[in-house]
Amino acid sequence: KARHKERLFPLVDADEAPRRGAREFSYRNDRDGRELEGRVLLVRAPEGLLALSPSCTHLGCTVVWHRGKKEFLCPCHGGRYDISGKNIDGPPPSPLRRFALEIREGMIHVRVPV
Ligand code: FES
Repeated sequence: KARHKERLFPLVDADEAPRRGAREFSYRNDRDGRELEGRVLLVRAPEGLLALSPSCTHLGCTVVWHRGKKEFLCPCHGGRYDISGKNIDGPPPSPLRRFALEIREGMIHVRVPV
């Protein structure tokens, strides 16, 4: 039976979190001989700082933040998400996945399933 596991990755200094809009960060860790890497969007949403997966919930293309529209756009089939990651148009069936954030020793960490 598969067990649900998560891991905490350091992303960036808390001071360097985006003050508006979204920025993409990557995380990487090969501590246990198993290399793990991925990307996370840090987003200054109305409800606070969020960590969202950049993978479109339709077929997994990488969404891009559009500064003018203040939306995430998926280049593949035109999916659109608002700043909080809620799917608002096109084929995506659900919001962008959210990851938990933690601040430890001044660094923003993200908790992702591994
Ligand atoms: Fe994003 Fe299809 S993969 S809209």
